[in-house]
Amino acid sequence: MIIHSAEFVKSSAKHQDCPKGPFPEYAFLGRSNVGKSSLINMITGRAKLAKTSSSPGKTQLINHFLINDAWYLTDLPGYGFAKVPVSVKKKWEGMIRKYMLYRDQLLCSFILIDIRHGPMISDMDFLHWMGKNNLPLCLVFTKTDKLTRSKRHQHIKQYEKLLSEQWEPLPPVIISSSATGEGKEGILKLIAQCNKDYNPHQ
Ligand code: GTP
Ligand code: MG
Repeated sequence: MIIHSAEFVKSSAKHQDCPKGPFPEYAFLGRSNVGKSSLINMITGRAKLAKTSSSPGKTQLINHFLINDAWYLTDLPGYGFAKVPVSVKKKWEGMIRKYMLYRDQLLCSFILIDIRHGPMISDMDFLHWMGKNNLPLCLVFTKTDKLTRSKRHQHIKQYEKLLSEQWEPLPPVIISSSATGEGKEGILKLIAQCNKDYNPHQ
């Protein structure tokens, strides 16, 4: 899929304020600093579309980007270790979960996991919550440019082993790096397929 246009639409503090309309939507989620905003920039080919930072906690609202005048990407705050008070983290978590549960046109969420770390409790908790609520997802391992191939493989296997205790079949997995562009094709292919199957009147 070729990205012809990508524009910021709005930032919302709650799901009720998100843009109206029938466009299919895809969310990028994961721990703070995992690379959500960078991945949105990488797949759209726009380096400054979503704001990034080396300091965790940069994205604080639900940000909608309209792509090809036909579908939305959303960039959300992270869960986990953002440098913000616990009360703010809790607020973000409530906002994220309500958005996920009530945003009807959200077709698939990309759950990003930093490939450098082994399975983390916050990631596993969030994945299990998604599974329990039957929310469609694709796992995306990020920052693969920072690890050797054998280490990558080892970490992905650890996750798959843990997930297989509760998931059958396992969700799709994409390996990515915003630094090298790896994973772009796989993510856009999945989105193109979901767009094709989408019928807002179902
Ligand atoms: P919050 O909005 O704070 O939750 O963070 P985020 O998940 O949106 O992460 P962001 O895209 O802002 O990236 C965090 C840091 O990681 C930045 O310094 C990025 O340059 C860096 N980064 C993101 N993706 C990659 C990657 O694939 N490879 C490398 N080497 N660095 C990356
Ligand atoms: Mg961000």
